[in-house]
Amino acid sequence: MSAAAKIVSSSSTLDTPTDISAEGVKAISEQLNVIIADAFALYLKTKNFHWHVSGPHFRDYHLLLDEQATSVEESIDPLAERIRKIGGETLRSIGHVAKLQTIKDNNEAFVPPIEMLRQLMEDNKHIAASMRKAHEIADKYNDAATASLLENTIDDTEKRTWFLFETSRAGDNSGH
Ligand SMILES: [Fe+2]
Repeated sequence: MSAAAKIVSSSSTLDTPTDISAEGVKAISEQLNVIIADAFALYLKTKNFHWHVSGPHFRDYHLLLDEQATSVEESIDPLAERIRKIGGETLRSIGHVAKLQTIKDNNEAFVPPIEMLRQLMEDNKHIAASMRKAHEIADKYNDAATASLLENTIDDTEKRTWFLFETSRAGDNSGH
């Protein structure tokens, strides 16, 4: 039995009608639930760094991380509702997030600012890869709407990666 199944018992009363096969609903929901758990974990990690960043670039980093936390938070609801639209079940608790998340929390008392940006960049790259896997699964079961939703969400995730990459590059005297 998977970790998710131990926490979430499936209920036929929540089985929204769909022409997607039961096997497809299960495969799509399982992969999307990992992405949702990672989004919750990344949201809190980004807010953690927004709250605890320090140093001469405080204002830039503090504001960037707040924008990014909002972007991550906005990805959650459409993905969870997508699962319900096809009759799957999604997350119910922080405990469920902890069971499913695949990115690491950071509970260090102090993290250097560049390290914060680089960790978040790697986390966003990891989540984009996980979304590409979900897109493949959606394609396999002809779930065009999930694939389309993921295409936009991947683009938002890669925008965050881009900003984190550029912001954490070492500068030189040319202004680069
Ligand atoms: Fe804030």
